Amino acid sequence: MSEAEAEYFSKDFDWDDLRHDVESDLSLRHHLLPFPPSAPAPPPRDVAAAWGGFHARHHTGKFFKERRYLLKEFPELVSCGKKNPRVLEVGCGNGSTVLPILRGNEDVVVYACDCSGEALEYAKEMLGTLNVASVERRFYPFLCNFAVHGFPMWLACGPCREASLHEHCCYSEAKEKTEMPLRGFDLSKDSSCLGGVDFITLIFTLSAIPFQMMPKALAECFCVLKPGGLLLFRDYGLYDMTMLRFESGKRVGFREYIRSDATQSYFFSLEIVQDLFLCAGFIELELEYCCIKSLNRRSGKSMRRVWVHGKFQKPM
Ligand SMILES: C[S@@+](CC[C@H](N)C(=O)[O-])C[C@H]1O[C@@H](n2cnc3c(N)ncnc32)[C@H](O)[C@@H]1O
Repeated sequence: MSEAEAEYFSKDFDWDDLRHDVESDLSLRHHLLPFPPSAPAPPPRDVAAAWGGFHARHHTGKFFKERRYLLKEFPELVSCGKKNPRVLEVGCGNGSTVLPILRGNEDVVVYACDCSGEALEYAKEMLGTLNVASVERRFYPFLCNFAVHGFPMWLACGPCREASLHEHCCYSEAKEKTEMPLRGFDLSKDSSCLGGVDFITLIFTLSAIPFQMMPKALAECFCVLKPGGLLLFRDYGLYDMTMLRFESGKRVGFREYIRSDATQSYFFSLEIVQDLFLCAGFIELELEYCCIKSLNRRSGKSMRRVWVHGKFQKPM
């Protein structure tokens, strides 16, 4: 089995065993404590700047990691049977998720947003140097902090959003702001909108958003997805090794931590993911922990990694 396959298919340990170990280990107690409600609210952070710094440090070939397992995990991206399916990759970073999608399906068109201009530049640079067929007609990057400003109206305009509106979707008010115009679209015409997308990929992006903003962020995703469309989700799972490494001073909320570079991360239980997505109006198709043991070559220690895999559908 290749390394990429192992990353997806392996179920190396049982998540309940990990939970038992963590919850009975006194040295890890600080992760379980309720976050003090009286704690002062953290000062507002410049999320785009923090991620811009992250991408500037990690954009070289050495750090770039194409998510080769993605199409095994989400085969519908390759074989959905639609002509020119539209994918919106939310929080695309340097393009680790965009690349396998464009390579795996030559019919697909990918719209990719990020709140960091640096990330988009690195993604464009990276895709430009690799041999991706018709990339200029199939890859549309744009700058957007979707959790704060919502998605631009050219993705799905007011009437399109309303046509598929759902009582859960309460954040669809006009969010006219698009900070970087797209090639090939006339943004001056109200009528020119895509009418929504067939797929949304949310891969290690929701965890980067403050927990209290997640319902709004998911409602935005719901609004720009076509009825019947799929949201494909992968992110950090509760008690992942990287969570357990955080010291107590790095907690900024319950299961929420800030890194030294000012980016932040939340760690999801299946119950929380279910609550968030069902409240936004989605139907759950798949939801599970992916538990993988990997070996730290330097220390020789085995590390228990936990990710959440989810597939959700917007009702027809
Ligand atoms: C861990 S990276 C994941 C990148 C990519 N999805 C992948 O599979 O590698 C998280 C990305 O989300 C972006 N991001 C964080 N908050 C965002 C927001 N509110 N709006 C748009 N992008 C955001 C960050 O800039 C970063 O590039």
